[in-house]
Amino acid sequence: MAIIKLGEDIRIRKIQDNTEVVPDIQQLKLNLEQIEKGGYDHFMLKEIHEQPQSIVDAYRGRLLASKGIIKMGSVDNNISRFLNANRIVIVACGTSWHAGLVAEYLFEDLARIPVEVEYASEFRYRNPIINTNDIVIAISQSGETADTLAAIKLAKSKGAFVFGVCNVVGSSIARETDTGAYTHAGPEIGVASTKAFTTQITVLALIALKLGNLKGELSNSKFNHYIQELSLIPGKVEEVLKMDKEIEKIAAIYKDAPNCLYLGRGFNFPVALEGALKLKEISYIHAEGYPAAEMKHGPIALIDEHMPVVVIATKKGHYDKVVSNIQEIKARNGKIIAIITKGDTIVRDIADHVIEIPETEEAFVPLLSTIPLQLLSYYIAVMRGCNVDQPRNLAKSVTVE
Ligand code: G6P
Repeated sequence: MAIIKLGEDIRIRKIQDNTEVVPDIQQLKLNLEQIEKGGYDHFMLKEIHEQPQSIVDAYRGRLLASKGIIKMGSVDNNISRFLNANRIVIVACGTSWHAGLVAEYLFEDLARIPVEVEYASEFRYRNPIINTNDIVIAISQSGETADTLAAIKLAKSKGAFVFGVCNVVGSSIARETDTGAYTHAGPEIGVASTKAFTTQITVLALIALKLGNLKGELSNSKFNHYIQELSLIPGKVEEVLKMDKEIEKIAAIYKDAPNCLYLGRGFNFPVALEGALKLKEISYIHAEGYPAAEMKHGPIALIDEHMPVVVIATKKGHYDKVVSNIQEIKARNGKIIAIITKGDTIVRDIADHVIEIPETEEAFVPLLSTIPLQLLSYYIAVMRGCNVDQPRNLAKSVTVE
């Protein structure tokens, strides 16, 4: 309980026994401009457009592309733990959990470290098996999510080394973890997470690349190629943001749809989940994300001429298989909105609408393919008259169970 009286210092007491608590006050380095809308109609739109800069901020001082180095103090200082880890267990909630799923692909693909991604709320209640050689990574924008915090405490009580990936400096999770890396996305005000997601992926990609190189899974030349490619991502995000008006037109066509399906494979599977979550959160349209190949085990039954299906069909990965999924949707008269690699004519010819994104390494595609889905949800929600920045029933940080 905090007692605030005009002209007096704040006093904090425990509700249980009324004892005085001495607060540990930390001054946050925020500037007012960062938390204003800066000419945008909503914080969410501003934050979507900030992503080229926030991704740079996430790798600034860490990705030294000209020197071919990734420098991360908290990883470097614990490097033998990371290199000897039997597996990585990722705990998170919501959008951060989706970033964790992308990280699973990153760590397994680039560094060949087995990964398990857990909802923090499930992990904390099921007596998880944690070995001393496991690394637990907790991902959280706010650093205050109750379930993630409890999962960290449980992992620590079992002797795990816990690494945090948080945005809010000095937050509870940042303090509770053994060490970690901030995402430096800047304040995220919109309840639906956008720039936090892409900066979480950026930070996790840096760690995966570094470990992959040190473990000998990524040769120096491959490693160099990846870091050059990552340094080009902010410019490519700018390019995707220029599709803004086209995406708004697509939104106008589907704004009244009662349902929407999102499909993707490999690195784009978590993107499909995240795209569906964004739409649900702010427009209240029922949406589901699915791995494209699982469509035949259920969701295909939902497809008819009223069902919009957003397919992330970028060239890398299992492109041909996704193309055949698109043909299956078309054969059932579903409406296809495809996210494609620039210049792809095959999907362009089948889909009802396409949104092009620039080519990049498969591992970094989520950093680009997520952006049009954020914009699509944003415009649909605005057109439906929804409160984009503060959707009903949701909170920016969930500090209770
Ligand atoms: C809430 C927010 C989501 C967020 C989730 C996890 O549900 O509305 O946007 O992804 O919490 O939050 P965290 O701060 O731990 O990333």
